[in-house]
Amino acid sequence: MASRITKAVIPAAGLGTRFLPATKAMPKEMLPVVDKPAIQYVVEEAVAAGLTDVLLITGRNKTALENHFDRATELEANLEKKGDVDRLHKVEFSNDLADMHYVRQGDPRGLGHAVLRSRMHVGNQPFAVLLGDDLIDERDVLLSRMIEEQNKRDATIIALMEVDPEVAHMYGVATIEATGSPDVVRVTDLVEKPAQGTAPSNYAIIGRYVLQPDIFDILDNTEPGKGNEIQLTDALRTQAKNNVAGGVYGVVFRGRRYDTGDRLDYIKAIVQLAVEREDLGPELRPWLKEFSATLE
Ligand code: UTP
Repeated sequence: MASRITKAVIPAAGLGTRFLPATKAMPKEMLPVVDKPAIQYVVEEAVAAGLTDVLLITGRNKTALENHFDRATELEANLEKKGDVDRLHKVEFSNDLADMHYVRQGDPRGLGHAVLRSRMHVGNQPFAVLLGDDLIDERDVLLSRMIEEQNKRDATIIALMEVDPEVAHMYGVATIEATGSPDVVRVTDLVEKPAQGTAPSNYAIIGRYVLQPDIFDILDNTEPGKGNEIQLTDALRTQAKNNVAGGVYGVVFRGRRYDTGDRLDYIKAIVQLAVEREDLGPELRPWLKEFSATLE
């Protein structure tokens, strides 16, 4: 069955306060992970899952994001003149990666508010949301699996990951029921960042969603929640509890995921991705071993 889903929405308008001062004049989604900005990994993931229409929700410092997915004429001409074909290809790669669109969020009033800004562009069809600072390792499958389930169930599909119960309070957390599929659960309730020790499970929401367009009306009627922000989790809770538009299911992800908005996770992401790289791994691995020996 052909997928009805063609559009990806990538919110990238957060203030990135955990990464200040690096994010004072630059969105955290532009921070390099090895040698590519985080956002490019996310757009590449959307494209790999068959989504070629990408809407970025941008904030104050949108210029760098827009420039990254556009031609860099002077730089390209310079590399061409030098005959530096390898680097030229790297630079050009992001120019035509997807059909890119941009909308400003204005005040960053939360993820739910950011998603609501995509309403005009998305229209009345299911769509994917990928958080611009959340990386899923390209060797592991998630988004295409979620789209497959959306096509099958005609419901909202969120991505869940089992986390250590000690850290569940840092996430949106789902109350779940088993389904016939080992990697799919039915979501009956959700709570955004529950007080420590009160999480209903250790199934945490991670930054991939395949949403029904009904979410827009629900978001419109969602009051600010945690942090006085309009929370996508709260809108999904309403959908799950009232079983709107097929309800909410979770695909349980057991692969590698990096939250590049968090400084420690960001460092881990760079190391993990760099050791696997053909151009960096062979030199980095022995150095890492040597270095870690000095830590004992
Ligand atoms: P985060 O909560 O990680 O972003 O939102 P933040 O608010 O920038 O983080 P800190 O705590 O201040 O460091 C997850 C994703 O949602 C986007 C962010 O850009 C990020 O990709 N977002 C968040 C928006 O687009 N708008 C918002 O109002 C909030």
